[in-house]
Amino acid sequence: MASVKSFFIVSLLIAVSSILNPASAHLSSDFYKKICPKALPEIKKVVQRAIRNETRIGASLLRLHFHDCFVNGCDGSVLLDDTANFTGEKTSLANNNSARGFNVIDDIKSAVNRVCKGNVVSCADIVAVAARDSVAILGGLDYPVLLGRRDARTASRDAANNNLPAPFFNFSQLLSNFQAHGLNLKDLVALSGSHTLGFAKCATFRNRINNDTNIDPKFAASLRAGVCPASGGDNNLQPLDATSGRFDSVYYQALLKKKGLLHSDQELFKGNRSQSDRLVQRYSRNRLAFDIDFAHSIIKMGNIKPLTGNNGEIRLNCRKIN
Ligand code: HEM
Ligand SMILES: *[C@@H]1O[C@H](CO)[C@@H](O)[C@H](O)[C@H]1NC(C)=O
Ligand SMILES: *[C@@H]1O[C@H](CO)[C@@H](O)[C@H](O)[C@H]1NC(C)=O
Ligand SMILES: *[C@@H]1O[C@H](CO)[C@@H](O)[C@H](O)[C@H]1NC(C)=O
Ligand SMILES: *[C@@H]1O[C@H](CO)[C@@H](O)[C@H](O)[C@H]1NC(C)=O
Ligand SMILES: *[C@@H]1O[C@H](CO)[C@@H](O)[C@H](O)[C@H]1NC(C)=O
Ligand SMILES: *[C@@H]1O[C@H](CO)[C@@H](O)[C@H](O)[C@H]1NC(C)=O
Repeated sequence: MASVKSFFIVSLLIAVSSILNPASAHLSSDFYKKICPKALPEIKKVVQRAIRNETRIGASLLRLHFHDCFVNGCDGSVLLDDTANFTGEKTSLANNNSARGFNVIDDIKSAVNRVCKGNVVSCADIVAVAARDSVAILGGLDYPVLLGRRDARTASRDAANNNLPAPFFNFSQLLSNFQAHGLNLKDLVALSGSHTLGFAKCATFRNRINNDTNIDPKFAASLRAGVCPASGGDNNLQPLDATSGRFDSVYYQALLKKKGLLHSDQELFKGNRSQSDRLVQRYSRNRLAFDIDFAHSIIKMGNIKPLTGNNGEIRLNCRKIN
């Protein structure tokens, strides 16, 4: 995309996101400009290296940001290991043996502390920036992330179990879940477009390919005969769309053909001209509309209940409190 065009889109997104989200008045796009101007380029470098090693890690980093923000806000809580005082989020239903990218976050943390000559960049900000860099590197917009989040001193598995949506949710459950986090129907449809990247385990879509009616029968049959048999193979991986290493509109095109992999994906398109259907149709045809709406919605997601000022801390090690 022409850089002038992306400059205007990006400026517009900053303006819109700061107006829409007064709660994030403390976050700013230039938070590290004076404290450590090398921080953001350094994060990008480590993300770039990790993606060159394994494309999927970009997807995993994007999902970490989502799982962080939906559980008590974007506060780095997803990164905390269990302690004697709390059981963290890593073993929650959605994360156990599924959330990944923690080593990359550790690598970023030590690289950033080295170039900044001190501990000034929060783990929560690192997750938000790593997600953005992953999206940009894999073909999405290089949208501006607002910064200045601080890190939580606690985490909760129960909170993760209660706040992260499940793949068997129907449309109204998905919408209620997003609304409970201050997000709307358009955010739900745009952010689900994250499933343009990455993989899902057989166990998360077995019910769909055996029981759902809103699914292409050949698509279901080939998954049943291949990667996801009736029993066994729970951890076998299937790409969430046909171009799982590229941030594009193919995810939405698949929904139009009833080839969404997760039940929750296909809930967004039923073929009856609902508001959600119309958004899926629009994003399937209009790549730029998807890119812009996605950027807008993920900036909004990144502003969920940040810790700022004297709240929380800047963790030295992203896996444990100071
Ligand atoms: C709308 C509700 C959502 C549900 C029910 C859902 C559910 C899931 C499930 C079950 C998986 C597969 C996990 C596994 O098998 O290990 C997955 C993967 C993924 N999700 Fe979602 N998700 C939702 C929304 C989102 C959002 C909003 C984002 C990002 C902003 C996101 C990003 C991802 C990514 C990138 C992957 C692939 C991860 C990888 O390959 O490591 N998802 N999701
Ligand atoms: C490279 O990716 C593999 C998985 O494909 C992973 O096990 C390994 O830790 C990664 N190495 C680095 C340096 O990121
Ligand atoms: C648990 O909390 C107590 C009291 O706040 C603190 O002294 C102790 O260091 C904590 N333990 C761990 C493992 O964080
Ligand atoms: C997490 O997964 C491990 C390994 O599969 C399993 O042993 C453990 O019981 C799971 N934890 C929870 C809380 O479900
Ligand atoms: C969605 O699921 C909820 C909870 O199981 C149920 O009460 C509701 O009737 C379902 N809605 C639709 C439209 O199926
Ligand atoms: C299909 O749905 C039924 C009823 O909800 C359930 O008991 C069964 O386990 C499902 N089959 C698969 C393969 O998930
Ligand atoms: C589309 O279908 C779903 C479920 O099949 C239903 O809940 C929804 O109200 C329908 N929307 C329209 C606009 O017909």
